[in-house]
Amino acid sequence: MKKVVLITGASNGMGFEAAKLFAEKGYSVVAGARRVEKIPADKNISAVKLDVSDVSSNEAFVQFALQKFGRIDVLINNAGYGEYGPTEEISYSNALYQFKVNYFAAVNLAQLVLPTMRKQQSGRIVNISSTGGNGYVPLGAHYHASKAALQQWSDVLDTEVSQFGIRSVIVQPGGTQSAWSEIAMKNAKENLKPDSPYKKLVEGIGNMLNNINLDATSKELAEVFYQAATDAKPKFRYYYSFRDRMMVWTARNHPRITHFGMNQLVKGILKK
Ligand SMILES: NC(=O)c1ccc[n+]([C@@H]2O[C@H](COP(=O)([O-])OP(=O)(O)OC[C@H]3O[C@@H](n4cnc5c(N)ncnc54)[C@H](OP(=O)(O)O)[C@@H]3O)[C@@H](O)[C@H]2O)c1
Repeated sequence: MKKVVLITGASNGMGFEAAKLFAEKGYSVVAGARRVEKIPADKNISAVKLDVSDVSSNEAFVQFALQKFGRIDVLINNAGYGEYGPTEEISYSNALYQFKVNYFAAVNLAQLVLPTMRKQQSGRIVNISSTGGNGYVPLGAHYHASKAALQQWSDVLDTEVSQFGIRSVIVQPGGTQSAWSEIAMKNAKENLKPDSPYKKLVEGIGNMLNNINLDATSKELAEVFYQAATDAKPKFRYYYSFRDRMMVWTARNHPRITHFGMNQLVKGILKK
């Protein structure tokens, strides 16, 4: 029997590549995104219109998978974006929306698949966090908070469901080629108030993100997702590179170093 994977955010970037990879590996893939027409076309991929911020859309997504395949082996909570901007100026509703997409959607979808996984006595929930679930950059407060919350939640969930043969694991990508930074910086500009005192900071962080050499591709990260979904004994955290692992290690063990670095970054931007 073919295994069944549900992947959110499959219209672009890592989710798009993951849908292709799991299909190649012989999985039945149920792939969701709002731009359903951009999900890769393949005989093993069922494209479903999905807005993860909408509970009824999540319910329909999981129902589709159960009706068509009758089982769910893997859920990949990948859909996400950066609601960047100065914390003082991001509206409360945009901050809430950030948590809906990056955190509460994962919670909602996990609750929807767990009864099936429990009956099967097997299942894997792969939650796509970020090195920014531990480290951070200025303007990303709600993004980093949502990814940190996702990590804590996933770890607690894992302790509760491993008794049923189900594991909840975290992947922490670092900067990766996708639409992510463009969307984050577009949001940072849109979140700025007219005559904002944070304009220079937004420009500086935007320049920095534009000039970072992103060596990781979404395709390479899809391989990491696959490993996290299929390792017989899953690791506590999955990384693409040693550099990403070290960044997280530093942020966890020496938070002052990370904080000092970010303060220096802001000073450098404002001095120019
Ligand atoms: N790229 C990076 O540098 C990086 C680093 C660390 C972590 N991450 C994380 O990796 C994950 C994948 O991001 P990516 O880099 O592949 O970004 P991306 O190219 O922007 O793709 C994001 C995907 O999420 C989907 N999405 C966004 N909001 C959604 C919603 N409300 N409902 C359903 N789908 C939604 C988008 O589809 P639609 O717009 O069609 O709905 C798209 O398919 C995210 O969780 C991101 O935070 C990215």
